Amino acid sequence: LPLGLLQRVDAYLGDYLYQRSKTNNNFPDTFSRSSSSSLSTDDGLFEQPEPLASSNSVMEKILLRRSMQMCDQQQAWQESPEGCKMLEFRKTLPAYKEKDAILAAISQNQIVIISGATGCGKTTQVPQFILESEIESARGAVCNIICTQPRRISAISVSERIASERGEKLGECVGYKVRFEGVKGRDTHLLFCTTGILLRRLLVDRNLKGITHVIVDEIHERGMNEDFLLIVLKDLLPHRPELKLILMSATLDAELFSSYFDGAPILHIPGFTYPVQTRFLENILEMTGYRLTQCNQIDDYGQEKMWRIGKQAPRKRKSQIASSVEDALRTADFKDYSSQTQESLSCWNPDSIGFNLVEYLLCNICENERPGAVLVFMTGWDDISSLKDKLQAHPFLGDPSRVLLLTCHGSMASSEQRLIFDEPEDGVRKIVLATNIAETSITINDIVFVLDCGKAKESSYDALNNTPCLLPSWISKVSAQQRRGRAGRVQPGECYHLYPRCVYDAFAEYQLPEILRTPLQSLCLQIKSLKLGSISDFLSRALQSPELLAVQNAIEYLKIIGALDQNENLTVLGRYLTMLPVEPKLGKMLVLGAILNCLDPVLTVVASLSVRDPFLMPLDKKDLAEAAKSQFSGDYSDHLALVRAYGGWRDAERDLSGYEYCWKNFLSVQSMKAIDSLRKEFFSLLMDTGLVDGNPTTCNAWSHDEHLVRAVICGGLYPGICSIVHNEKSFSLKTMEDGQVLLHSNSVNARESKIPYPWLVFNEKIKVNTVFLRDSTAVSDSVLLLFGGSISKGDADGHLKMLGGYLEFYMQPYVEEMYQSLRRQLDELIQTK
Ligand code: CDP
Ligand code: MG
Repeated sequence: LPLGLLQRVDAYLGDYLYQRSKTNNNFPDTFSRSSSSSLSTDDGLFEQPEPLASSNSVMEKILLRRSMQMCDQQQAWQESPEGCKMLEFRKTLPAYKEKDAILAAISQNQIVIISGATGCGKTTQVPQFILESEIESARGAVCNIICTQPRRISAISVSERIASERGEKLGECVGYKVRFEGVKGRDTHLLFCTTGILLRRLLVDRNLKGITHVIVDEIHERGMNEDFLLIVLKDLLPHRPELKLILMSATLDAELFSSYFDGAPILHIPGFTYPVQTRFLENILEMTGYRLTQCNQIDDYGQEKMWRIGKQAPRKRKSQIASSVEDALRTADFKDYSSQTQESLSCWNPDSIGFNLVEYLLCNICENERPGAVLVFMTGWDDISSLKDKLQAHPFLGDPSRVLLLTCHGSMASSEQRLIFDEPEDGVRKIVLATNIAETSITINDIVFVLDCGKAKESSYDALNNTPCLLPSWISKVSAQQRRGRAGRVQPGECYHLYPRCVYDAFAEYQLPEILRTPLQSLCLQIKSLKLGSISDFLSRALQSPELLAVQNAIEYLKIIGALDQNENLTVLGRYLTMLPVEPKLGKMLVLGAILNCLDPVLTVVASLSVRDPFLMPLDKKDLAEAAKSQFSGDYSDHLALVRAYGGWRDAERDLSGYEYCWKNFLSVQSMKAIDSLRKEFFSLLMDTGLVDGNPTTCNAWSHDEHLVRAVICGGLYPGICSIVHNEKSFSLKTMEDGQVLLHSNSVNARESKIPYPWLVFNEKIKVNTVFLRDSTAVSDSVLLLFGGSISKGDADGHLKMLGGYLEFYMQPYVEEMYQSLRRQLDELIQTK
């Protein structure tokens, strides 16, 4: 009986999705429909009318007239005093000197590769050269140039920059479009977008109709989207002989791309930088009166051994401000570089030597060095914000009349990012704390000093046990050189690498391309939704193909969650997931939350899994922070704790006391705000899918039902599942792939001595030495049976088999209990829906 019921529920959900998809015009179920007809105008990249049906001479005349106007406008600006001044500046850029050669190469070849050092003017000038020359040739109104950027912030800042170089407002000739945001208008002919946006466009417009030039920027980064786009474009070019492709790279390994594109010509822009004085850790320590006495190489597994700092003959520093840092140095050793414990996951703890050293160097620069801005490369967002807090509390560095402290990272708001380009007032030192985003894609003009912590958060993926990780890892030599190069742009500069020379020597030459080190699930979905044929065939045409095992794992995963059927075709759920630009599991959670009408908490869960953990755990107030966090627990769920914390914040925000609420509860205000805006974005995405109709009452009819929300969380996170083995006093955990696993100490479940459920579902596991679950929600057997699996139409059998396998593996002695609770919950569910 329960199994029969189960199939009914499963089929019900699948049928329901299928029916809903029929009522939505936007739903990409057939690709035979002509390009933009079924899509709202906003999904198109350019808004002008389709150029030139050649018989239509009226249209032709209008466009020609428009082109002439553009030409006049451009000329008027170039002859104006401001325009002349701007042109003078542009002419100083190395790229400008190559303008004719670049344009000639583009007109003679379908594909051109341009390389040149960061800051030489590739991104701001090359697209502009093309636009200007098209306008001058009276083709302004019929050219459509797309330039892709790996990150949203660079798409935005570059388009703003070019608009101002052209004396226009953003959204006239030049615009941008990134996920959830964009400024463009009817006259936009040069559009900057993230690579993801162009890929989404390809979903509905395989031939990129109307687009005349595609520029793929920052190809040296070898991001997954860029590699993917290159395969698609390579296949497309023979069918669009008039489409031009320009690839731009900041490093000199352009030959790889040239040979991929059958010997496409490479243009190199010779650059000029000033010499940069380089110091490694041992040199820096010498400045402080300490020295590094022993240092071992990074071993084969990328793990570092112990460092020792010995004290040199005492040498009193002249700096007053720095003395407290010296105190810190005296008591510290460099265990942060060497220990591999759970706590040192992020190697730059607020109280660690790393921060102290940064603070010391910043003080030293502010006090003793010539004017010039400082750029500090940190590992990630978390470190940036902790370091910022620390520096703001500093008597000198935290004084806004002396120091302009700014941050630069991928998730910052566009208003915030504009500040980093501003020049500070006289006598004020600009300090920018940045992630690797400032390595090549963003150029801050006045940098003279660079501090480089040597690490970056890198997503990696262990295909063998199918575990994704986002860990701080050492950067490559090329990255270190890029970072160093940032100091020598305007005058001779100085670079402090906060690691020993021998560590640098052990860095890999280049970073591994993303496609070789991350899970491929979203990529596989995209391949399928673009109808690019067999996933493995397609990926075998990549610049560097991922391991077969990684591809198989991804396909298998998509089958398990019901996004692909047994023949690797997209299911209805799979199609919905391609409309939601989040990880498939989060997309599935959103879909379930929408159809089961408990959307509000699910939006919060998905949004908070997409931002930095909002619960702050300052090391010196860990007890208080944990106590604060425990107020939100009680459901054996980190995800429900997030829902409560966010709910509390939202209420407090209504009384204008959101800030105090966060302060009291050790919550990050920025994370709360980020969750808030992501929730809105996800909601509007769901509106586009047609799964919610915009009426908050309907889609939240069951939001108060914690059991249902838990089930939806399970539905999304499955097969991220681990079984709880209770022993007398405590419990242990195991998963099918990893065996024994542990809970991260920040998880609310880590503080429980008993969890009255047999399973935990989790979003993230991290492998350090042991596997740790970062977050988890406890679920019952029945919930797992109902929601752990596919909800694709007619695939209930596969789902049951799968679950059978899991149950058999874990051999849980809960069968009787399970049937009873299953029946109860099924009865409830059937009644409520
Ligand atoms: O792409 P690439 O690294 O070659 O350089 P770019 O981004 O085109 O920048 C060229 C120059 O434009 C930089 O060196 C800056 O002087 C200037 N620029 C600026 O002043 N403000 C911006 N938002 C972007 C660039
Ligand atoms: Mg650039």
